[in-house]
Amino acid sequence: MTTLSSSNDARREFHSRRLLAGWVAAVLLPLAAAASASAQGVTVPGPWGAIVDHDKPLEFGSDAERATYLRRLAMRAISAHFRSVEAVVTYGAKAAPGETANDARALVDEAAALSFLFAERTPSAAGKPGAREEIWLQPDKFARHVEGFRVATAKLAATIASGSGVADALVGVRHECLACHQSYRQTAAAR
Ligand code: HEC
Repeated sequence: MTTLSSSNDARREFHSRRLLAGWVAAVLLPLAAAASASAQGVTVPGPWGAIVDHDKPLEFGSDAERATYLRRLAMRAISAHFRSVEAVVTYGAKAAPGETANDARALVDEAAALSFLFAERTPSAAGKPGAREEIWLQPDKFARHVEGFRVATAKLAATIASGSGVADALVGVRHECLACHQSYRQTAAAR
């Protein structure tokens, strides 16, 4: 009798402990997880130890934000490859063997990806820097800019391979950057 009731007590106590544990898990753990995600960054383990990347993880509210993020990174990559060629061709910096040809090839590849990067209608908010909605209102004209950039980057790669006419081809690429930005990129706060 005593044994039975004490084992019932024990079971009840066990049950209420489980409830408490469940409550702790349901309420506190998500809070802790959210805190570690936003305030503490992401742990990046490896041979140099467990290093915390304080800027991560990124948070996206929609697929449009993800697409815009990727597109801007592609533009920054285009910019860095272009500037690298310019540093060598226009300003006389010494490149590692094959480096300038690699930069030109990367520009050719990025040019091929451009129409895909702008496929979804994802303009910046009114008055905010980013992609102008004209891109999706004038698809034929925008496609001609993409094609112009494709041709100009292919020409640059060819001149770098042959070693002649590189400076002119670089101007041709720069012209396509500026022409597309003039019509389709919002930079300042006002339109
Ligand atoms: C066919 C059109 C087009 C061409 C060609 C083009 N761009 Fe862009 N670029 C854009 C648009 C549109 C944006 C704004 C994108 C956004 O914010 O969503 C942009 C944004 C950028 C940005 C800002 C990225 C960021 O982080 O916000 C840089 C830098 C850039 N372009 C550099 C270049 C350079 C350099 C070239 C030429 C080598 C080039 N672009 C060619 C359309 C183009």
